[in-house]
Amino acid sequence: MIELKHLSLSNILTNINITFPEGGYIGIAGPNGSGKSSLARIIKGIQDPSRGEVYINGEIRPKGKVSSGIGLLLSSPENQLVSSSIEEDVAFGLENMNLPSLEIAKRTEEALKLGDLWELRDIPAHHLSAGQQQMLVIAGIMAMQPGYLIIDEGTSMIDPQGRVTVLDAVKKINREKGVGVIHISHDLSEIIVARTIFILDRGNVVWGGEPSKLHHQEPLLRGLGMELPPLLKLKSLMISSGYDISDKAMTAEEMADEVIKVISRSV
Ligand SMILES: Nc1ncnc2c1ncn2[C@@H]1O[C@H](COP(=O)(O)OP(=O)(O)OP(=O)(O)O)[C@@H](O)[C@H]1O
Ligand SMILES: [Mg+2]
Repeated sequence: MIELKHLSLSNILTNINITFPEGGYIGIAGPNGSGKSSLARIIKGIQDPSRGEVYINGEIRPKGKVSSGIGLLLSSPENQLVSSSIEEDVAFGLENMNLPSLEIAKRTEEALKLGDLWELRDIPAHHLSAGQQQMLVIAGIMAMQPGYLIIDEGTSMIDPQGRVTVLDAVKKINREKGVGVIHISHDLSEIIVARTIFILDRGNVVWGGEPSKLHHQEPLLRGLGMELPPLLKLKSLMISSGYDISDKAMTAEEMADEVIKVISRSV
């Protein structure tokens, strides 16, 4: 479990208290400059807070210690790839861990298969599409068997199809491998799958709760220049027009069922 307690960073973050449960999926959203990436760097341990502590499994993490059990995926794959060979790129981190070569080969194959890259392993990494490169970075992170994966705007540089691939892979990693996900995005529709969402504004958590309650926060989001995901916008519009739509409807299918229900009630 990761706990942030009374965490501040000069004038960038103010008194942040968030718990990231093991195997959970937490979303963090906020406008440009709200402190999202600073928070990601502090959770990973690349940067120390000026006040407060990061607890890992109940113990204070010492200052200056980077957590190897927390993977960090950034927006640009180019800056995160270390080799032109796909296999070498995944194996690199494992070699630094001094693992036996058989274990490295096994983990590399598993991680590449997870990212649908095993069949492409003889292609130079820079020939992959941006989406595939991002999957390669994820494979490299997953080979290290982290307890948590932080995604800091991990899909902002890739096309819609690559985006879906990466988002599906992240969901699968959370559900099937039990890896805790900390998903940072300025786009709420991307993190709507999270169990809990926190909204940051100028370094403060201004809202935290379940995504199914987010449509009640439209004025707050508007003030931050953020938009409700289209489905939640529809829910909000229908509720404000007097229709009794369940908070629980979160997918297109569930919304369609709700809309059919309220329309058939009103005829
Ligand atoms: N090393 C630094 N020194 C001083 N100020 C910084 C530093 N890094 C970031 N900042 C400032 O801290 C604030 C938060 O930046 P941060 O990158 O964490 O925000 P963000 O929410 O990730 O923004 P974006 O949506 O643009 O990625 C910004 O005002 C930024 O200018
Ligand atoms: Mg950022």
